[in-house]
Amino acid sequence: MNELDSLAATARAAFAEARTPAELENAKAQFLGKSGRITELMKGMAALSVEEKKSRGAAINVAKQAIESALTDRRQQLADEELSQQLRAEALDVSLPGRRRIPGGLHPVSRTLERIEEIFSSMGFDVADGPEIESDWHSFTSLNNPPNHPARSMQDTFYVDLNGDDGIPYNLRPHTSPMQVRYAHQHIKKYAAEFAAAAADTTGTVKAPEIRVIAPGRTYRVDSDATHSPMFHQCEGLWLGENVSFKDLKVVFTDFCRTFFERDDLVLRFRPSFFPFTEPSAEIDIQFASGPLAGRWLEVSGSGQVHPNVVRNMGLDPERYIGFAFGMGPDRLTMLRYGVNDLRLFFDGDLRFLSQFQ
Ligand code: PHE
Repeated sequence: MNELDSLAATARAAFAEARTPAELENAKAQFLGKSGRITELMKGMAALSVEEKKSRGAAINVAKQAIESALTDRRQQLADEELSQQLRAEALDVSLPGRRRIPGGLHPVSRTLERIEEIFSSMGFDVADGPEIESDWHSFTSLNNPPNHPARSMQDTFYVDLNGDDGIPYNLRPHTSPMQVRYAHQHIKKYAAEFAAAAADTTGTVKAPEIRVIAPGRTYRVDSDATHSPMFHQCEGLWLGENVSFKDLKVVFTDFCRTFFERDDLVLRFRPSFFPFTEPSAEIDIQFASGPLAGRWLEVSGSGQVHPNVVRNMGLDPERYIGFAFGMGPDRLTMLRYGVNDLRLFFDGDLRFLSQFQ
């Protein structure tokens, strides 16, 4: 084998040794690069005669072409190997059973909230949303809670590690009642002209604009057992106007309960109670005439006539504005509607439980 043949053989061997495209390019440089062996041989022809150059050049070219074709072959080989490796790695087992898509659905409590919103909307109530992290003023002071009221204590209310403008820590709202004052403020601002006209009227002909709203949402208390969860839901209701009375509360709430439970035989009881922000106050109990819960009184809501101090904190005249508020438990309503006896099931996220409601 002459020198050129053996050079081509060496190159072929070096290319074969390259395991990756990068290694192959390195090997190529040794033979075909700017200072590779072929270039060196070309330079070495400078001293030859024209005749010698011709034959030597042709011979070098043959070797060069042999090396180039060896390179091309090896490149193709490496590319093929890479592709088949990739195909092996991405192989699909078409005999595996497919993954089913499980249809999603609304949480039972969300269903209840939607029903509540639908029913109250049909009675002309607005639906409002508000912050779950509340100021001390909105959760307590504006609602006529005395400074030492137990609801303010750490045992009952969660506090956030951040002070409000008043220097008192924010709380995780323990009820939706702060939405009474919040919504009143927003509503009065939005309809400022109407409220101002009513306030300025001395003839008694301009009717005061009403406030009629429900505010459903999450609430928090330091409490946990089969019927209490540290996070639970409430839905506040507020109807204020010139002549809104306890009678209206009875009508509205009875209507709501009968529609919600789809039971015309359902009866309500207003049991005297106490809340700082209502006077008089009542717990609302319901009773089914038939079914598994027949004859039992079941508490579903707190309620009462809005306290004059709260009306004042809304920026309204308690001599003119009167009405009622209620705060009900959508979780409780959901338990009663579906016959669930442990509140915690709603918040465990167990699909065996939740999928029964779809
Ligand atoms: N906020 C009261 C509670 O959490 C419920 C309530 C709301 C009572 C509105 C009266 C009026 O228990």
